[in-house]
Amino acid sequence: MQVKPLFPGVYSINGKLATKNLVKGRKVYDEELFRVDGAEYRSWTPYRSKLSAAVMHGLKGFWIEEGSSVLYLGASTGTTASHVSDIVGKKGRVYCVEISERSMRDLIQICETRSNMLPILGDAHDVALYSGIVGRCDAIYQDVSAKEQAEILKKNSMFLKKGGHAYFVIKSQSIDISKNPSEVFKVELSKLGGIFELVEKFSLEPYDNAHLFAVLKKL
Ligand SMILES: C[S@@+](CC[C@H](N)C(=O)[O-])C[C@H]1O[C@@H](n2cnc3c(N)ncnc32)[C@H](O)[C@@H]1O
Repeated sequence: MQVKPLFPGVYSINGKLATKNLVKGRKVYDEELFRVDGAEYRSWTPYRSKLSAAVMHGLKGFWIEEGSSVLYLGASTGTTASHVSDIVGKKGRVYCVEISERSMRDLIQICETRSNMLPILGDAHDVALYSGIVGRCDAIYQDVSAKEQAEILKKNSMFLKKGGHAYFVIKSQSIDISKNPSEVFKVELSKLGGIFELVEKFSLEPYDNAHLFAVLKKL
């Protein structure tokens, strides 16, 4: 098997995207495990993770690396967050905010085996809830199926270092199902002017419909 590094901590193995497993022998969902030269890798499918889909789409800059501190908004059951946990490694941190108690139950089980993941049950609007827990972050990853997506990112930008990056997944159908997605994306991005500068953006089709993946840099 040939392991080709794409970004620090992100690999292509026989054409499949993968991260190095932080907890050897353990799967998080139904991903494949590959063993190469004493290391273990977990396949990272673009159909299950929008960050993986973004890499497949030719994402230019990957601003999460070993030791990074990441605020993850909308962690759900931890699929993508677990790959971020692989990438940041033991010296990094992934603060996982999730509003659904049902998803949180599964997420907690993953966090129990991954010491760099911290589960936070709550609404990502309510930054005061976790301002005493989350420190200054190198990156924010936001994938929330909520109506006020730009407002959530705006509030949480207080945790991001100047020059730090935010991965902002915009789901137009959660905002306004009656509007053309491109119109919704434009309005959401315009709300972040003065706080962020747009670095890159692209649609996630065919992996996810009506989603925009935007990479922003904090001014
Ligand atoms: C599309 S899912 C996230 C999938 C996840 N990012 C992944 O790739 O594994 C969106 C999540 O956002 C959560 N969510 C919606 N509104 C939220 C809010 N206001 N605060 C925190 N989480 C929220 C939902 O409960 C859901 O789990």
